[in-house]
Order: sequence, then C-alpha cells, then structure tokens
Amino acid sequence: MEKREDNKLISVCSFKGGTGKTSISINLAKVASEYEIETLLWEMDKNPGSLSSIFDLDPNTSIINAIMHPQGLHYYINHVKNEKFDILLGPSDPIIGEEIDDIKKLSEVLNLAKNSYKLIILDLGPYLDKISIQLMNESDLILLIIEPEVSSISKARVNIDLICKKTEYDIENKIWTIVNKTKVFDNITISQIIDALKLPFCTKIAYDITYRSQMNRMESKIPETKLYKGCKKIFKKIYPEAKRPEKGRKLFLKKTKKI
Ligand SMILES: Nc1ncnc2c1ncn2[C@@H]1O[C@H](COP(=O)(O)OP(=O)(O)OP(=O)(O)O)[C@@H](O)[C@H]1O
Ligand SMILES: [Mg+2]
Repeated sequence: MEKREDNKLISVCSFKGGTGKTSISINLAKVASEYEIETLLWEMDKNPGSLSSIFDLDPNTSIINAIMHPQGLHYYINHVKNEKFDILLGPSDPIIGEEIDDIKKLSEVLNLAKNSYKLIILDLGPYLDKISIQLMNESDLILLIIEPEVSSISKARVNIDLICKKTEYDIENKIWTIVNKTKVFDNITISQIIDALKLPFCTKIAYDITYRSQMNRMESKIPETKLYKGCKKIFKKIYPEAKRPEKGRKLFLKKTKKI
C-alpha cells in the first residue's frame, strides 16, 4: 500500500470485546477534525459494528460496496451530521463480512481514501484475523485499548506475541497503550499494567458513569465527555504541533473570500 508522508493510518485495536475501541475512535476522529485534519473513521469490524446505529447511517452503504466499486468510494462514505469527519461503515452482517478476505481488495479503497483524508482511523474488531494483522502492519500507529483487568492485559500480550512469532511484522514498535475505564479502586495499577505488557503507555481514560447516557441523549453534536477530553490528550501526543484554528481568523478568511 502507498505510504505518504503527510497522512496517517491509525489502527485502534484490542483483543477483547467492549474495551472502548469504537468510543475512542469516534472521539479521536472528532478531536482531529476540529483541528482541521481531514479525518475518515473506518469501521473494520467484520461483525456489524455500532457506528450505523450511533449515527443513524444506512448500513447498506459500506466497505463492501466500496470494495466492489472503489472508484465510487465517495458515494459510500457518510458525512457525520454536525461534525467535520466522515465514516466508512463496516459490513452489515458477519456473512457479508466474510467477503473481506484479501488485503488486496482493501488496498485500492485505502489508497483512494488516502488521497482525500489526512487521517484514517481504523476501528478494528476484537478478534485476531489475517486482515487485521495486515492492516496493523500497514498502520503508522496502533492504539491498543486495554481495560485495567487481567484478561484484557493477558489477551493483548498473548496475541501480540503470536503476531510477532507467526509473521515478520514489527508491530510492537508502533503500539501505544491506552488504559480505558480506570476507576479509583482498580486492583491493578497503571505501572503494573505496563510492566506486564512491556509496551509504551500513552494515557489512561477514567470510567465515566455518564458516558453512555450522554451518548444516548446525543441530539446534534457528539457531547464533550471525559472520553472526548481523554482523546484530546491522545491527539496531542500524535500531533504535538497541531494548532486549533482560531475562530476569528476563519471568519476573516471567509470575509476576504466573499470580497
Ligand atoms: N471510558 C469509558 N467510560 C464509560 N463507559 C465507556 C468508556 N469507554 C467505553 N465505554 C462503554 O463501554 C461499552 C463498549 O464500548 P465500545 O463499543 O466503544 O467498545 P469496543 O471495544 O468498540 O467494543 P467491541 O469489541 O464490541 O467492538 C459501550 O457501552 C461504551 O459506552
Ligand atoms: Mg467496537
């Protein structure tokens, strides 16, 4: 796949379900787009993901259509209402999902997407398969989402060891660990998690008891929850130079354009 200097492909993964991959992908896409980075959130889960229901999108416009007609990619990309980022949905059911069996089928879509987006965030499924491993290998950065509990940590370590053993991919060097859903009385500390994983640590995001209800109540924009604030920290580590556009300056540019 083409590698270009000015765009980034980021995989968001975990090897256990429900750790917060999709929530973190959504919020990271929101933050990046607010910094005027053209962002595509790409659902790469073979099982039906939750993005179509969260954003009320047509589940029939998906990666499957895009694979069949890569040149028509823009027809299958969804613009998120009141936000500045776009979404490419995953397959609408796991049987259709089986059609994504070859990285070559995805390469053309991914290369075309790279022409239009500076940042592509891949929200991967909670399982290990050939396509996910290849996509992780193609990525510039892998965000590994861990919960502060033993099974999430050990599954991650075992699966990363397996990838390194079975392939020649050097994925370990581009993994950043995010510990999500931390609580005050967790019986495992961040340093114990990092010692066990032996991977670089990016940040922790606290368990936010109100997160789900805030998202369910979402009417227009994605709410600025604790998860959104956590994703701001992640974003700043990925793009330390990025500056949020000043509103005043944007207005000035609009004015001069009109003249
Ligand atoms: N920091 C957090 N605080 C509170 N709730 C959270 C947090 N992060 C995620 N959640 C909740 O946890 C649940 C699972 O989150 P999410 O769907 O993002 O996980 P996932 O890893 O994408 O799951 P899957 O493996 O099924 O794709 C959701 O109900 C979400 O609202
Ligand atoms: Mg998910």
